[in-house]
Amino acid sequence: MLKVGMIGCGGIAQVHAAGWLTLGNKAVVTAVSDVIEESARAMAERFDGATTYTNFHDLIRDPDVDAVDICLPHHLHREAIVAAARAGKHVICEKPLCLSLDEAEDIAGAVRSSGVTMMCAHNQLFDPAVEKARQMIAAGELGEIFMVRTCDCFRHTKPLSEWGWRASAKTMGGGCLIDTGYHPSYLLLNLAGSKPVEVSAVGGRYHIHTLEGEDSAVVIVRFANGTMGEVLTSWAWEWPEGAWQFQILGEKGQLFGRGRTIFYKPIGWKPASMELGQRNNFAAELEHFADCVAEGKRPVNTHEEGTAVLKMILGAYESMERQRAVALV
Ligand SMILES: NC(=O)c1ccc[n+]([C@@H]2O[C@H](COP(=O)([O-])OP(=O)(O)OC[C@H]3O[C@@H](n4cnc5c(N)ncnc54)[C@H](O)[C@@H]3O)[C@@H](O)[C@H]2O)c1
Repeated sequence: MLKVGMIGCGGIAQVHAAGWLTLGNKAVVTAVSDVIEESARAMAERFDGATTYTNFHDLIRDPDVDAVDICLPHHLHREAIVAAARAGKHVICEKPLCLSLDEAEDIAGAVRSSGVTMMCAHNQLFDPAVEKARQMIAAGELGEIFMVRTCDCFRHTKPLSEWGWRASAKTMGGGCLIDTGYHPSYLLLNLAGSKPVEVSAVGGRYHIHTLEGEDSAVVIVRFANGTMGEVLTSWAWEWPEGAWQFQILGEKGQLFGRGRTIFYKPIGWKPASMELGQRNNFAAELEHFADCVAEGKRPVNTHEEGTAVLKMILGAYESMERQRAVALV
């Protein structure tokens, strides 16, 4: 039974908590921490007897914690991951891994020297349609992959005054691309299955004009094997009609889908849809993490994949600023 300490008890931590509660035979939350004591106490009530902390370093020192689940603002990820790894605690951390490649290097060093299991919480990889797409690509159903497009958009309605750490580019690390856009970014790398070598991007503010970062972005990626990639993300418009979470165009046809629905369209045929079983992708990612720790397996996405996604996003930001393509060396 994995003993978990939750660090950060805000919005997404509530969803993680619900996920941990489904894993009764594999994991138990023994400690929680938040700088706001009331938030930590409210979270502890969901887990019988969990210890509450306001300083996450105290939680990390707790001998009754084997692994930490980090749901903190972006600028605190590095500090929490490094401290936990150095203390020999396994780590699952919400996206993004951290804010810079220097921070990512610190994390890699701490994880390597401690030998703990480190997983990036890339929950959309656990969507049934995404898993099915990966299996079909591996089985050669599409032949050579020419292009992968991914998308995550919604219209933000909350006033910026309520955004807290997200309102500042310093604590957020950017705008929509490094937050919501992080999902289609890791999805793109996961489905393309090749190394990104060049990135070009444009971004802008169309709806949240006082945001420091962009509220919308389009990223174009060239992969080492020649595959083309495209990421679309926005907080300015609703999910675009006709767009999919992923669309993979290959030599023999295409696959597209979202959530638990996937379509397969061999060239010259009409698309055939498959409805896959319902699944909570957060519960599935936490279970995968608990299994990896128990069995000493490598998680589907470690800090290595987290660093690759971050590198692509930082390259996209550089491209927006310099208005030209950026090589990812
Ligand atoms: N996977 C997803 O779909 C998804 C969705 C939303 C957020 N997230 C990610 O989850 C993370 C948290 O986002 P959120 O929306 O829950 O933010 P949030 O602001 O709702 O929650 C953050 C919590 O951390 C606490 N906190 C701040 N500093 C702390 C410290 N030093 N020690 C302990 N607690 C501290 C805050 O009090 C707050 O309760 C981010 O990395 C974000 O990108 C992921």
